[in-house]
Amino acid sequence: MVLRRQGVGLGELRRIGRRLAAALRGGDLVLLYGPLGAGKTTLIRVVAETLDVSDPVRSPSFTLANIYAGRITIQHLDLYRLDDIGDDDALALEEYVRPDAVTLVEWPQAGIGRLGEPSFTIRMAHESLHERSIEIEAHTGEARERWEAARRHE
Ligand SMILES: Nc1ncnc2c1ncn2[C@@H]1O[C@H](COP(=O)(O)OP(=O)(O)OP(=O)(O)O)[C@@H](O)[C@H]1O
Ligand SMILES: [Mg+2]
Repeated sequence: MVLRRQGVGLGELRRIGRRLAAALRGGDLVLLYGPLGAGKTTLIRVVAETLDVSDPVRSPSFTLANIYAGRITIQHLDLYRLDDIGDDDALALEEYVRPDAVTLVEWPQAGIGRLGEPSFTIRMAHESLHERSIEIEAHTGEARERWEAARRHE
């Protein structure tokens, strides 16, 4: 675990998102777990804004993925409704992770085993109306080093 915090308000979440953006590289897969309203999209929005995405970041509710052009391409997947989308699209999941893009996935449960190996896993939960707990796990030594090197961005 590279980060484990409680009582995280929106301001602190934004700082964490900026640090995460600085730590990410092309080819990264980031899995975001947590219940409805935990703040997964909010965190991805900060990452995208930090990487100079100007398009609005919203959960891709009727498609599997939103793709944003920023300093690097950002692919925002939400697999909540994957069962409704059907097998053809589901089979294409492995094609999302590419060396020239960062891929962030909300509700990744349905895609485990088809998305590839994550570099970071993030778990968020409600503590109160405006406070969340957040845990970030780095899955390789290299991802951990990048997270540590990005400390000054928080
Ligand atoms: N400390 C906080 N961190 C994150 N979000 C917060 C916080 N305090 C309040 N909020 C609000 O909670 C909501 C979180 O919604 P968001 O869409 O980011 O959740 P989500 O995890 O993506 O949910 P879903 O599973 O429905 O996609 C937003 O309206 C946000 O402004
Ligand atoms: Mg969301």
